[in-house]
Amino acid sequence: MSRSGDSHAAYPATRLRRTRQAPWIRRLVREATLQPADLVLPLFLIEGNAHREPVGTLPGIDRLSIDLAVKTAAQAAELGIPAIALFTAVESVLKTEDGAEAYNPNSLVCRAIRTIKAAVPDIGVICDVALDPYTSHGHDGLLRAGKVINDETVAVLVKQALTLAEAGCDIVAPSDMMDGRVGAIRAALEARGFIDTLILSYAAKYASCFYGPFRDAVGSSRALGGADKSTYQMDPANAAEALREVDLDIIEGADMVMVKPGLPYLDVIRDLSRSFDVPVFAYQVSGEYAMLSLGAENGLFDRTTAFMESLLAFKRAGARGIFTYAAIDIATALTEPS
Ligand code: PBG
Repeated sequence: MSRSGDSHAAYPATRLRRTRQAPWIRRLVREATLQPADLVLPLFLIEGNAHREPVGTLPGIDRLSIDLAVKTAAQAAELGIPAIALFTAVESVLKTEDGAEAYNPNSLVCRAIRTIKAAVPDIGVICDVALDPYTSHGHDGLLRAGKVINDETVAVLVKQALTLAEAGCDIVAPSDMMDGRVGAIRAALEARGFIDTLILSYAAKYASCFYGPFRDAVGSSRALGGADKSTYQMDPANAAEALREVDLDIIEGADMVMVKPGLPYLDVIRDLSRSFDVPVFAYQVSGEYAMLSLGAENGLFDRTTAFMESLLAFKRAGARGIFTYAAIDIATALTEPS
């Protein structure tokens, strides 16, 4: 029986291998595809000039000074990657209890936005809205008596989002998981005339161990000192709750939503993309990238094939686009004649 209830011919009238017999027919019947336009490249910024610093836990990934980030952004644009996502490794002297550097108009990320938008105007610039790179305790929000406090944090996130929009950021991406922050950010953007600034909400962001290498890259793991983010990030056991998160974020004014991490949460990507019309993105997070890279380095599988297969899985599940640290390599592989 087919799914519509008609009976289908059985073997040998039906031989599913017929459509697998040669590359041309496999290409013809292929359901999901992967293109450079599906990819977003995350970049880690550091102070300095012509300066790069490897992230020990992310093989092949460097923190870049702004001038080098501009070059990488230009290379990404050249390859057809539509957008980059900026993250900063903030110097420890700038990390404070209240994370005030988050809304400094001359912060590293704001200078990077201005420089990149001037040099590579055709690439979209996405910036994280969350306090974790800027707080001395490493949490995404303000901490009072050991608790991450919601509404006071939202007020700071609004200032951060406005500062980023002012600097020229195209998409603000709240990744902090505070309640009500999308609505507050949207209202403030509208009030200040930033009517075209997009909001990509990290709506279904799970309290995941797979962020480990990222926290190393931005230097928040030492600050966190083993504390976890389970009072604001989602419980990995929950899928239905992701629908509620997205529902609220759309009502509050999100243009796009994100599921994060990616591969362990394909069911959530599928649920969201089937339930909502809003574009759903997925983040192949640092731990996923590191696992695939280290597996390939250890000869377990071919690196490019492993990345292609995982990224295709995101597309198959319904993701509109994917954040991946492998974006340059994969876009390069996709544009090479096969
Ligand atoms: C911080 C933030 C995190 C990531 C993106 N933004 C880490 C966290 O929530 O601790 C993770 C990205 C990755 O692991 O690649 N708000």
